[in-house]
Amino acid sequence: MAEKKARLTIDGESIDLPVYSPSVGPDVVDVARLISLGYFTYDPGYLSTVSCESAITYIDGDAGILRHRGYSIEQLAEHSNFLEVCYLLLYGKLPTDEEFSNFQSAIQLEQTIEDYLISVLSGFSRDAHPMGIMCSLVGAMSAHYHNEIDITDIENRHKTAIRLIAKIPILAAMTLRHIRNQEFIMPDPNRGYGENFLHMMFSENDSSPISSVLARAMDRIFLLHADHEQNASTSTVRLVGSTDANPYACIASGIAALWGPSHGGANEAVLQMLKEIGDRSKISEYLERAKDPSDPRRIMGFGHRVYKNYDPRAKVLQETYREVLDSLDIESDPTLQMAQDLEKVALNDEYFVERRLYPNVDFYSGIILKALGIPTSMFTVIFVVGRTPGWIAQWNEMISHGYKIGRPRQMYTGDVIRDYPLK
Ligand code: ACO
Repeated sequence: MAEKKARLTIDGESIDLPVYSPSVGPDVVDVARLISLGYFTYDPGYLSTVSCESAITYIDGDAGILRHRGYSIEQLAEHSNFLEVCYLLLYGKLPTDEEFSNFQSAIQLEQTIEDYLISVLSGFSRDAHPMGIMCSLVGAMSAHYHNEIDITDIENRHKTAIRLIAKIPILAAMTLRHIRNQEFIMPDPNRGYGENFLHMMFSENDSSPISSVLARAMDRIFLLHADHEQNASTSTVRLVGSTDANPYACIASGIAALWGPSHGGANEAVLQMLKEIGDRSKISEYLERAKDPSDPRRIMGFGHRVYKNYDPRAKVLQETYREVLDSLDIESDPTLQMAQDLEKVALNDEYFVERRLYPNVDFYSGIILKALGIPTSMFTVIFVVGRTPGWIAQWNEMISHGYKIGRPRQMYTGDVIRDYPLK
């Protein structure tokens, strides 16, 4: 029972509502019984609405905090790796050496691509959008694994999680090679997750070397995107999952939600902005326009709706960004030079300093992905690979507790009743 109560008074009638205290974060007023009293609550965009209980990820945007299962993103980025974070999100604890090795082996066993997926992929034209392809491939998995899935069985759910974490990066790399009309390269069991992804996308043959700096950068980008609590795509996965839908179909719906430029597409916008600026000498002019309230332009990759302090992921990625740029010859790449100049100028500009506008994770990930040679149309696909464990961990958490089908209400503002005109 909740000890705290909130009193809501409507037309002189008072209603006591239970108030719950989470382990950390704002108290939560339980409004569920309002319907029995004849009221709905109104919160478009869910600005104040909690949709579920979760023990996976905690964010405090004002304080610049992001933690998974209680571990700070800074510590995870420094000491862990993407696969270990996948384990942490799914199972709620860090693995022992033996558990990690078993987890890795289970993933390796699933790193195969069946013929039906190759047939689906080969049906797409070379100019098809990689995100549309990814939606379709994961949708195809829902058709393929339709019969064997029992979502009430924990082992079955874990198998699904492992299969998705194993296959999604292969499908992503195959998508790039398909649009480039190149032969596919399968994962190499002797390479790590991030390294394998670069290998599958860019290697010329099975033994092509991958730089350790770039492999670590790739792994970090995945790790930093692994989960971000109830964002639009994760909420989509949960909503679809609440109908007891096939889990691969749930993840395909998450990919569709992530595709939108207001969600996963911001790092692509950073590159478009740099293209629009065009030259280092035009940075100050562009900055002045971005500061002008009558001009809609903004510095893409600066500011954040939730993080009003430094986005903790951006801080981590800033370090990786420097490592990557130092390891590559960027003298010859004017876009990357421009990004460095823009970062410097904006960080010291009074307008940005006063408004606490810092580079966000998309600023650095966009630049790093560009430096890694990944085309901009693939940027959101990289986000898909990183976010897969978060989606599947959140789906699994929901299914393993009691849940109701997600069914929001509405405030109807249309005609009350009309007679059909008789002719
Ligand atoms: N460039 C220039 N000015 C900016 C920027 C920017 N990137 N971001 C905010 N401002 C200004 C606003 O004009 C406003 O100025 P004012 O106080 O003079 O009116 C002030 O800073 C506060 O901005 P808000 O609009 O209140 O910030 P809000 O939280 O609504 O917006 C957002 C956050 C949408 C991320 C915004 O900063 C932005 O458009 N950034 C660029 C796009 C981007 O990088 N998006 C990805 C964010 S990361 C993610 O969501 C995954």
